Amino acid sequence: MAKMEVKTSLLDNMIGVGDMVLLEPLNEESFIDNLKKRFDHSEIYTYIGSVVISVNPYRSLPIYSPEKVEDYRNRNFYELSPHIFALSDEAYRSLRDQDKDQCILITGESGAGKTEASKLVMSYVAAVCGKGAEVNQVKEQLLQSNPVLEAFGNAKTVRNDNSSRFGKYMDIEFDFKGDPLGGVISNYLLEKSRVVKQPRGERNFHIFYQLLSGASEDLLNKLKLERDFSRYNYLSLDSAKVNGVDDAANFRTVRNAMQIVGFMDHEAQSVLEVIAAVLKLGNIEFKPESRVNGLDESKIKDKNELKEICELTGIDQSVLERAFSFRTVEAKQEKVSTTLNVAQAYYARDALAKNLYSRLFSWLVNRINESIKAQTKVRKKVMGVLDIYGFEIFEDNSFEQFIINYCNEKLQQIFIELTLKEEQEEYIRENTNGILAMLDEECLRPGTVTDDTFLEKLNQVCATHQHFESRMSKCSRFLNDTSLPHSCFRIQHYAGKVMYQVEGFVDKNNDLLYRDLSQAMWKASHSLIKALFPEGNPAKINLKRPPTAGSQFKASVATLMKNLQTKNPNYIRCIKPNDKKAAHIFNDALVCHQIRYLGLLENVRVRRAGYAFRQAYEPCLERYKMLCKQTWPHWKGPARAGVEVLFNELEFPVEEYSFGRSKIFIRNPRTLFKLEDLRKRRLEDLATLIQKIFRGWKCRTHFLLMKKSQIVIAAWYRRYSQQKKYQQIKSSAIVIQSFIRGWKARKILRELKHKKRCQEAVTTIAAFWHGTQARRELRRLKEEARNKHAIAVIWAYWLGLKVRREYRKFFRANAGKKIYEFTLQRIVQKYFLEMKNKMPSLSPIDKNWPARPYLFLDSTHKELKRIFHLWRCKKYRDQFTDQQKLIYEEKLEASELFKDKKALYPSSVGQPFQGAYLEISKDPKYKKLKDAIEEKIIIAEVVNKVNRANGKCASRIFLLTNNNLLLADQKSGHIKSEVPLGDVTKVSMSSQNDGFFAVHLKEGSGAASKGDFLFSSDHLIEMATKLYRTTLSQTKQKLNIEISDEFLVQFRQDKVCVKFIQGNQKNGSVPTCKRKNNRLLEVAVP
Ligand SMILES: Nc1ncnc2c1ncn2[C@@H]1O[C@H](COP(=O)(O)OP(=O)(O)OP(=O)(O)O)[C@@H](O)[C@H]1O
Ligand SMILES: [Mg+2]
Repeated sequence: MAKMEVKTSLLDNMIGVGDMVLLEPLNEESFIDNLKKRFDHSEIYTYIGSVVISVNPYRSLPIYSPEKVEDYRNRNFYELSPHIFALSDEAYRSLRDQDKDQCILITGESGAGKTEASKLVMSYVAAVCGKGAEVNQVKEQLLQSNPVLEAFGNAKTVRNDNSSRFGKYMDIEFDFKGDPLGGVISNYLLEKSRVVKQPRGERNFHIFYQLLSGASEDLLNKLKLERDFSRYNYLSLDSAKVNGVDDAANFRTVRNAMQIVGFMDHEAQSVLEVIAAVLKLGNIEFKPESRVNGLDESKIKDKNELKEICELTGIDQSVLERAFSFRTVEAKQEKVSTTLNVAQAYYARDALAKNLYSRLFSWLVNRINESIKAQTKVRKKVMGVLDIYGFEIFEDNSFEQFIINYCNEKLQQIFIELTLKEEQEEYIRENTNGILAMLDEECLRPGTVTDDTFLEKLNQVCATHQHFESRMSKCSRFLNDTSLPHSCFRIQHYAGKVMYQVEGFVDKNNDLLYRDLSQAMWKASHSLIKALFPEGNPAKINLKRPPTAGSQFKASVATLMKNLQTKNPNYIRCIKPNDKKAAHIFNDALVCHQIRYLGLLENVRVRRAGYAFRQAYEPCLERYKMLCKQTWPHWKGPARAGVEVLFNELEFPVEEYSFGRSKIFIRNPRTLFKLEDLRKRRLEDLATLIQKIFRGWKCRTHFLLMKKSQIVIAAWYRRYSQQKKYQQIKSSAIVIQSFIRGWKARKILRELKHKKRCQEAVTTIAAFWHGTQARRELRRLKEEARNKHAIAVIWAYWLGLKVRREYRKFFRANAGKKIYEFTLQRIVQKYFLEMKNKMPSLSPIDKNWPARPYLFLDSTHKELKRIFHLWRCKKYRDQFTDQQKLIYEEKLEASELFKDKKALYPSSVGQPFQGAYLEISKDPKYKKLKDAIEEKIIIAEVVNKVNRANGKCASRIFLLTNNNLLLADQKSGHIKSEVPLGDVTKVSMSSQNDGFFAVHLKEGSGAASKGDFLFSSDHLIEMATKLYRTTLSQTKQKLNIEISDEFLVQFRQDKVCVKFIQGNQKNGSVPTCKRKNNRLLEVAVP
C-alpha cells in the first residue's frame, strides 16, 4: 500500500543546491562553493543529474541508519536529498523491475572513499532485497567477504589508512524476484611489491600486523612467530601502529568473517601459515662467499629461520637452501646451474615472498567465490560494483603506480564515453596503453634488456607524444627541465602529471620467479603452498615464458571494460577534501584539482545543454500511455505519433522536450520527474478503476451465485415444508379415520352383542324350560322307576329268600372249601409274580434273597432260594472249559479231604494247583531226569525231605507220575528212589498250619527198605490231593489220609512217633523238626 505521506523533494530544505544541474551561475567557483557549503553542513552527497558526487567526510555520519534505508527505499531518485542510497535504490529497482543489469562505477583518487562507498551500496542492497534464512546467509557471506579481502589486500599508505592495494570488481547476482543468489569477485593485480618493501610512512598489508597483534600465544607458537614487529624485516616499523585502528580486534573480525564466508578451520590455519612463512622469509639473510674459481656465492647467515620455515611448510630444508643458492636454466634439453650471488639471492627471496603472497591472495578470492557463487542455474540479473585502487601520485612512482593509474585512466575513458560522448569530443589517451605494449615488447626482446634500454626505446617512440615527457627524448622541450631526472619519464594523466622511476619496470613486468624456487615450493607437504605453485610440478615444465604482469593486467582490464559497457552504469565520483585524512577540512585547491580532472563541470554543462533524459519511443509510450485518453489503453499507430499526442495532451512547454529520430529527449529532469509523478498518480487511479471493476464483477458474480443458490434453497425448502404438511394431513386423516372406524366397529359390536345376548337369553330360557320339563319328566320317570325297582327288589328278595331257603343245605357243605382254595391260589399266584421281579443276580456268591412275604410260605421260600442257587451254579458251571472243570474238581476234592480238618487248608484255596512247578523239560540240567521218565508228570516240585536219622532237611525233587512217585537230587537230577503208587499206603499230616507230611509205604515192598518218607512242602494240600486222585484213578482204591497231631512212621526197623508241638516260637515262623530219640521226632509248629 502506498504510504500517505507529505511529498518531499530534492528542493525542500536544500543546503546549497542538491543537483549541480540547477546551479546558477555555473562556474568552477560556484561549483566548489556549493560543494563546500554542503560539506560544512554534513551534506557530503551532491548530484549531477544521476551521477553522485561523494565528498569524504573522514568521520562517521548518522546517515546510514536502518531508518535512512527505509526512507530511501522505493522512493524516486529526486524525491529526497542526495544520497548514495538513492543511487543504490535506483540501480536495484531498475535491475529488479526493468530487468537491466547494472554496474556501479566508483572512481576517485586514493582515500576518496571508494571502498566505503562500495560497502554502503552493498549494505543498502542487502537491506532492501528479499529476506529469508537462505537469502540472509547469501547476503551475510557477500558482506563478510569484504573484511577478509581488506585484511589481505589493503594497507596503510600515506594517502589512506585503509588503501585498497588491489582492484576489485564484484558481481552480485539476483533472481527474477530481486533476491540475491550469490556473487563473483574478480581481483586485479595486487600491489605485491609492498610485501617486501614499503615506502616511508606506509605499512605492509594489514594481515601481518593483525596476526602478530591479535593471535593468541598458542597460535603464535604454532606459527613459530613472535609478537614483536621489530623482529621482522618485512614489516616497516615507523608506522606499525595506525591511529584509531585496533589490529587485534580486526584480526578477530577477520577470523570471524572467514568462518562466515565458509573457510574451514584448517583452511584458515593454512592461510595463516603461509603468512607466517612470508614473514619469516624476510628474515633470511645471506652473506657473500668467494670461491676459488672467482665466482661469487652466497650463504645463508642463520639457518634457524630457514629451518622453521621448512617445518611450517613441510619443505625439505636442503631443497629450499639449494634453491636460494643456485639457479637452473633449462634450454633446449640442456640444464645449466649457476650459483647466485648475494644480490641475486635476495632478489630470489623477495620474489618468492611476493609470489607466495600474491598467489595466496588470488587463492583467497577464488575460495571466497566458491563459497558465494550462486547455487542455482537460473537466469540471473547482475549488479556489478567496481572498487578499484584510486589514482595516486607518490614521491617515487613505479610500475605499480603506472598500472594503477593506467586502470583509472581507462575508467575515466569509459565514463567519458558513456556520459559525454555525444556532446564532447573524444577524450583519447592512448599513451599508457602504448607504453605497456612497448614494455612487453622490450621484455620479450632477445639480448640484454634493462630498464635503461626500455627508457631509451620509450624516448624514441613517444618523443612527440603530447602527454609524454622525458629529458632524454629528442624533444627539446624538457632538455633543461631539472625537475625531471634522467632515469624518469613523466606522463600527463587525466588527473595530473605523474613522474615514474623507470627502475624496476622490466623486472616487475617480467615477474620472474626462479624455477628452482617454484619447484621447491611444489615439493612442500603443505597442501595450500603446493597448490599455489602448480608450475613447480616437474611433469608440467613449460619452457614458454609466462605472460608478463603488464599484459595480463591489460587483458583483464580490457575484459572488465567490455563487461561494464554491457551494463547500465551508475556513477559515484568520490572526492577527497584534504590530504590530512582529517574531518571538517575542505581544501579548495585540492577539490578544484579533482573537479577539473574528473571533468565534473563539463558533466554539468552537458547535462544542462543537452537533454537530461532520452528514451526510445516504444518504451516511453509503453510507460506513459496511461496519461492520455487517446493512447490508453492501446495506441494503434507508430510509437512516435503516440508519444507526440501524449506530450501535446500533457501540455509541457515545448522547449522542455524534442522529438528525435528514434527517441524522445527531455531537457529538464524535473519534467521527467513530473511525468513520473503523473504516471504514479494515474497508476493509482487505474489501480482504483481496476479494483472498482474487479470488485463490481466480484460482487455481481457473488450476488448471482447467491441468487441462484437462494432459488435452489427455496425450492428445496418449499418441497420439504409441503412434504411435511402433507405428512401431517395424512396422519391426521388416518387418526380421524381410525376413530370413525373404531366408533363404527364398536357400534356394530354393540348391536351384535345385543343380538347375541337376546339369542342367548332365548336359548337360556328355552334351556331352563327344557330343563324344568326334563327334570319334571325325570322325576316322574324316577318315581316310576323307583316304584318298579321297589317291586323288583321286593321280588328279588322274595326270590332270594325262596332260593336261600331251598339251597341252604348245599352251600354249607362245599362253598367254604372252594373259597379257601381260590383265595390261596390267588395269594400264591401273587407271590410268584412278585418274586419274579425281585430275583437277585446270577452270581453264585450273591447272598441276597428277598424277604419272605407270608409266613406260611417259609419252606417254599427257602426251597425256591435253594433251587435258584443251584440253577445259577449250574449256569455258572456250564461256562467252564474242560481244563477249568478239572481244576475245580481237584479243588473240590481238596475241600472234601481237608476242609475243617487241617488248618493249612484255607490258605490253599486261593492257590492255583499248578502241579509242575519245576519245569524239568526246559532246564537242561534235568535232561537226564526228563529222559528217564516216560510218563506224564503230574507233580514236579522241590520238597524238603526230613532226614530219618537226625530230622534235618534236604532238598529233593518230588515227582508224581501216573504210576510212580519219584525222588531225585535237586542238583544233579539223579533219581534217588522210585515208589510205584501201589506201594503207597497212607499219607499222614498234622491238623495244623504246617506243610509236613509222611508217605507210608507198604511193608515189605522194595521201596520200603529204608522206611517211610517224611517231607515238608509249601504245596502240601495240592500234593496230597493229587496223590489221592492219581492213586484212586490208578489203583481204584482210596488213599488213606490221616490227619492227626501224632502219628507213627516206620524208619527202617524203628517205629517213630512224629509229634507236632504248637506254639514253639523258638525259630520264628519256620517249623523245625528234631529227632528226639529213636522213638520220637518232634516238629515245632508256630
Ligand atoms: N562515507 C564515509 N563516511 C565516513 N568516513 C569515510 C567515508 N568514506 C570514506 N571515509 C574515510 O575515508 C577513508 C578512506 O576511504 P576508502 O578506503 O574508501 O578510500 P578509497 O577511495 O577506497 O582509497 P584507495 O583508492 O586507497 O583504496 C576510510 O577509511 C574512512 O575512514
Ligand atoms: Mg579502496
